Amino acid sequence: MSKTDHFFIRDPWVYDPEAPRKVREDAGRGFDTKALHAGFHPLVNQNDFRSFVPPLVQSITYPYETFEKIPCPVYGRTRTPTNTVLEERLAALEGGEACITAASGSQALFNLIFTIARPGDNVVTSLNIFGEGYKQATAIFPERCGVAFRFVEDPADPASWDRRIDGRTKLVWIETPSNPCLFITDIAAVADAAHARGVPLIVDNTTATAALQKPMALGADMVLLSVSKFIAGNATVLGGALVGEESLVEDIRWNTTEFVGAVMQPMEAWMTLQYVETLSMRMARHSANAQAVAEFLAGHPGVEHVNYSGLETHPQHGLACRQMLGHGGLLSFVAAGGMAGAARLMNSLRLVVHAVTFGTSRTICMHPPTITHEHLTPEERRIAGIHDGLIRLSVGLENPEDIIADLDQALGKV
Ligand SMILES: Cc1ncc(COP(=O)(O)O)c(C=O)c1O
Repeated sequence: MSKTDHFFIRDPWVYDPEAPRKVREDAGRGFDTKALHAGFHPLVNQNDFRSFVPPLVQSITYPYETFEKIPCPVYGRTRTPTNTVLEERLAALEGGEACITAASGSQALFNLIFTIARPGDNVVTSLNIFGEGYKQATAIFPERCGVAFRFVEDPADPASWDRRIDGRTKLVWIETPSNPCLFITDIAAVADAAHARGVPLIVDNTTATAALQKPMALGADMVLLSVSKFIAGNATVLGGALVGEESLVEDIRWNTTEFVGAVMQPMEAWMTLQYVETLSMRMARHSANAQAVAEFLAGHPGVEHVNYSGLETHPQHGLACRQMLGHGGLLSFVAAGGMAGAARLMNSLRLVVHAVTFGTSRTICMHPPTITHEHLTPEERRIAGIHDGLIRLSVGLENPEDIIADLDQALGKV
């Protein structure tokens, strides 16, 4: 694509539900085969060394062979060969046409909204979104770009989504399962509500990943990913990605990241390619461990409430079983004794580490009311279920009995 085909001041990408979608050549392959092969074959891809693994190309610039012909890639702000392999792989796993990586998941969200919305436009979402997403929705975009975010009253009711959409709605955005309260939104129902009004749906698939949930097969138009979480899996990569139509991805690439940068570095893309190979196996183990931990916590008198869709007591357990292949590694629970109880418990943990992020191979915990969701008003926190004693637990790949033993001894001190 020539740079002159695109220019900054022009009409943004327009959603066309009737536009023919490309079918990927590897669409019929299994998830693990795609996780290992999509986007790169040692004998097919341009690769002078016949490297078995996708090569790490750190170069940020690519030479012109002639004055007239713009090379592809041309410069690291738009693409690099290593990022392109990862983008192909993530698109294949999510079942989308194309993908663009970003410096973080938050950056990927920002790039999308910044590209498709103009002052006066709006985005419809709910309070079940990650903390930085909430800050973009309530402060950054409304105050600095004139783009409003509308929160639905009842995210479980498709009519509630319909009511918030109007002629200036550019996007409906859901996060399911949500961080930190594991609310499950019905992807197909919200997709129908959005499409009936000619609006695209994006699903943040960070907590489930494509190994456990395929939003695009359920009707979503785009997928948002924080690569920093389960996809990379051990807190060594900060990265994000957006999967969707090629025309949208190229609009973001040439009209936003080309000018502002904030791209994922090739080294991060290369590391992610190694980790993504084992994604489905890790997610299966995260899910099994989280189920065991959730059941333990649900039966403990020091715990008031557990949020995990694998528990039959979860209000959307049936929906989660229908739209997901497993319930994932993230859960949250409310410790008895409010914030003081949560603090005592977290200070007593010996194996489980207290740190920001989730989706790591090691079990990690965090206190959303003070760390990620502190900007919500008390009323919004009440609606979103973010109680003072809420602890988010990202269940890792350790032997589950050791995680449970650590929680048990810490709960004994509350
Ligand atoms: C569901 C979800 N999506 C996106 C993000 C943003 O990811 P990043 O930390 O890579 O910016 C987060 C971060 O916590 C998240 O929880």
